[in-house]
Amino acid sequence: MTKGNDMRWLLLGATGLVGTHLRAALRGRDVVMTSHRAQLPGSVPLDLTDHAAVTRVIREARPDVIVVAAANAFVEQCEREPIATRVINVDAVRYLANAAPNALLVVFSSEYVFDGSAGTYAEDDLVTPINEYGRQKVAVEAIARERPDHLVCRVSGVYGWSAARTSFVCQLVDRLRAGQRLRVPADQVITPTPAADLAGVIVELVDRSARGIFHAAGPEILPRPEFARRAAQTFGLDAALLDLRTTAELGLAAPRPLRAGLRTDKLRAFLGHGLSHSVDALAAMRDAEPRP
Ligand SMILES: NC(=O)c1ccc[n+]([C@@H]2O[C@H](COP(=O)([O-])OP(=O)(O)OC[C@H]3O[C@@H](n4cnc5c(N)ncnc54)[C@H](OP(=O)(O)O)[C@@H]3O)[C@@H](O)[C@H]2O)c1
Repeated sequence: MTKGNDMRWLLLGATGLVGTHLRAALRGRDVVMTSHRAQLPGSVPLDLTDHAAVTRVIREARPDVIVVAAANAFVEQCEREPIATRVINVDAVRYLANAAPNALLVVFSSEYVFDGSAGTYAEDDLVTPINEYGRQKVAVEAIARERPDHLVCRVSGVYGWSAARTSFVCQLVDRLRAGQRLRVPADQVITPTPAADLAGVIVELVDRSARGIFHAAGPEILPRPEFARRAAQTFGLDAALLDLRTTAELGLAAPRPLRAGLRTDKLRAFLGHGLSHSVDALAAMRDAEPRP
């Protein structure tokens, strides 16, 4: 396979949270980016469920690496609409994988492949999803693993800026700045993953010919309230507006794994470094806030 700066990349879902930061990390590279509903100058509009269009894009881009950052990443919607969300989250990835059998396929998975009863977890721990989103991720992992050239990046609680301001930290900033309360699950842990670092690490893993499953997550496994307090403090916001509730009190459709932290020893051993600690990454995010 072509290596390093000579590789041709295809980035699907370039306007999403992970896609936005991958765009920055891939600046100067040979990359075709696709967008969906959101506009992005220079990108190719693509609905991943349109198989003829996917075939066309692959034929024209002739990618060495395909990064599937496009997905329906809404856990609640996956639970309520399993069939509709599988069309994009699983079936479209299967079609794509078959349409580009020789490319390195990079997919994103989640700590939700685990049930959270015996966390924390390493890459080779048994997957036991307890909600539809987790089951879809297990299916995507299996599709990627059918080929030798695959990278599965399991992430958790990704935070950073994106146009849609969907990340937990974005929502926290927007709500607390407006003086509104924000519900935070008191009984869940996460492995907060800074999107900017994540994007850099993905490019580095590809450049260094990594294959297989990696927990591409931040270095700390934290109770959600602790992470929320750190975010509020970093942005100079009132942590008293954080409304701590048990997961059961939130009345969610999808059961949540409560203790599903991702161990990142494999990533750090492979790269010789991990992602930034949340205190540093939150400060970097604050300093990089896009001006309206
Ligand atoms: N964010 C997290 O904390 C987290 C945690 C674990 C795993 N992950 C996984 O990481 C990956 C990236 O997540 P993210 O947070 O970046 O998601 P995101 O911000 O919601 O972005 C999803 C992207 O997919 C695009 N998309 C949706 N439907 C599409 C379709 N039918 N055809 C083509 N593009 C489509 C969206 O474009 P439009 O908006 O224009 O439709 C958007 O660009 C996902 O696989 C997600 O499950 C994320």
